[in-house]
Amino acid sequence: MTKITVIGAGNVGATTVQRLAELQLGDLVMTDVVDGLPQGKALDLMQAAPVMGYDVDVLGTTDYADIADSDVVVMTAGIARKPGMSRDDLLAINGKITTQVCEKIAEYAPKATVITVTNPLDIMTYVALKATGFEHNRVFGMSGVLDSSRFAAFIAMEIGCSVRDVDAMVLGGHGDSMVPVPQYTTVYGIPISELMSQESVDRLVLRTINGGAEIVDYLKTGSAFYAPSASVAKMVEAVVKDSKRILPCAAYLQGEYNARDVYLGVPVKLGKGGVEEIIELQLTDEQSKALSNSVAAVRDGIAKLQL
Ligand code: APR
Repeated sequence: MTKITVIGAGNVGATTVQRLAELQLGDLVMTDVVDGLPQGKALDLMQAAPVMGYDVDVLGTTDYADIADSDVVVMTAGIARKPGMSRDDLLAINGKITTQVCEKIAEYAPKATVITVTNPLDIMTYVALKATGFEHNRVFGMSGVLDSSRFAAFIAMEIGCSVRDVDAMVLGGHGDSMVPVPQYTTVYGIPISELMSQESVDRLVLRTINGGAEIVDYLKTGSAFYAPSASVAKMVEAVVKDSKRILPCAAYLQGEYNARDVYLGVPVKLGKGGVEEIIELQLTDEQSKALSNSVAAVRDGIAKLQL
């Protein structure tokens, strides 16, 4: 039986475990630093199993020994930015948490594929690569699936069509420096430029860039978790089922898109081997420039951590 661990039993972590249980992808382990939290949520999920009909184990634990030999580990542990806290403070705190957790992953689950969710995403994925010492193809981050899903949702709302027909593409850093790519965004194969004005495209691109912040403004004390957990579950499914899905993920670049030794959101082929291929797209000059700005922002963050 496939074993999937989710580190962090907060909003994103616990909802991810729920989605993975419902997809019946394997036995699940959920850990957290707060004793009682993963145990309580896991028990609740086990009690939902008879109603929902999923037949997998869900174990909540604070003991890393329980993650032993996991096939896939999803990393959601961290803290959210609090009032008065700078981005650099957040970077330092989540950098430390990610390092500590990833050293445990390397110790107990040395063959795992690691998918990071903790923000700032692209930088934390680099931290995870260094702290695990794993090959870069099996350490990657959840960013583009979420950003593309947000873009697709807004497009469907604008056109008044089914979300099922929308294929959206968002590249670059997960955050202010993301790069939505309208020319690779289609509605049943029709480029969105044929279905809406440039002004509408620009408005939806901007809303996508602010997609996470718009939700934080509503929630005030937390950030998004339904769409993030759905996105990470889709990535886990692609790995576990070896389905070779083409999805945008934060992948380690070695010259692709003119970037090297950095993580950035790009389209990849996802399967058992993790990131099995990076797909290079033709971009406009403006998009290429935006992507190199993304790279610079990620590099800046990595440099601050002095890994
Ligand atoms: N080890 C394990 N768990 C930890 C650790 C640690 N060292 N430090 C913190 N945690 C746990 C917290 O106890 C908390 O339960 O991580 C969990 C984070 O959950 P939430 O605060 O609910 O945050 P969430 O909304 O799930 O977001 C998690 O994903 O999307 C990103 O920006 C988001 O970085 C954030 C992460």
